[in-house]
Amino acid sequence: MSTTSIQPKPYASYLIQQDCAAYTPEQHAIWSTLVSRRMPQLEQHASAEYLNGFHQIGLQPTELPDLAAVSRRLQPVTGWNSTPVSGFLPADAFFAMLSDRLFPTTTWIRSLESLEYTPEPDIFHDVFGHVPMHAHPVFADFLQHYGELCASLTRAEDLERLGRLFWFTVEFGVIRERGQVKVYGSGLISSHGECTHVVSGGAEIRDFDLDSVLNTTVNVSEMQTVLYAIESFDQIYEATKQAASRLG
Ligand SMILES: [Fe+2]
Repeated sequence: MSTTSIQPKPYASYLIQQDCAAYTPEQHAIWSTLVSRRMPQLEQHASAEYLNGFHQIGLQPTELPDLAAVSRRLQPVTGWNSTPVSGFLPADAFFAMLSDRLFPTTTWIRSLESLEYTPEPDIFHDVFGHVPMHAHPVFADFLQHYGELCASLTRAEDLERLGRLFWFTVEFGVIRERGQVKVYGSGLISSHGECTHVVSGGAEIRDFDLDSVLNTTVNVSEMQTVLYAIESFDQIYEATKQAASRLG
């Protein structure tokens, strides 16, 4: 008789419960301030798909999101889940979660003193910035496929190149909609400064091209000078499928 041992998922030890009752009125007010500060610009400059997703997952402008409630609305649409985690995840755990359609989501909120910038993602960056896009079926497939591809890689150079694809799409992605450049990456959606810089013409917008993206060094500490505009989300889904042939 043989026994099969079930390996724990590499992210198992990072999963936590979100304690919604522990949020203070001041923390809800910070969420509210952030949302009301971002919305006027996003109504003008965010991708229609982001704005659709925002309403679809039921985010409330005045209170911090309950991730279980968000997931109950999101899961029937694309199978994605906004899953609370304890903080920054190592790469293998992060990619394994994406492969399982679990988006690692932080539960803390920035302080009033750091409204514009936090060195590590908080719930505003993760939920307001990222999760609405997970309601889009093609983006949803793209992100899972991206996680599966990265989980299969071992060479640091390959992971660095794939990290650039994540950066110029999931974090700093822009799309052309009816002839206008619209933002969909969380680094732009959730940051007033970064988004203002881009919509006021501070970054050069090039056509999305997989090889250019894989070869463009990421600068995490300054405003972005070059971004890559897609024409549709199918383009990044296809690019992720093609990316495997550009590695090794
Ligand atoms: Fe992010």
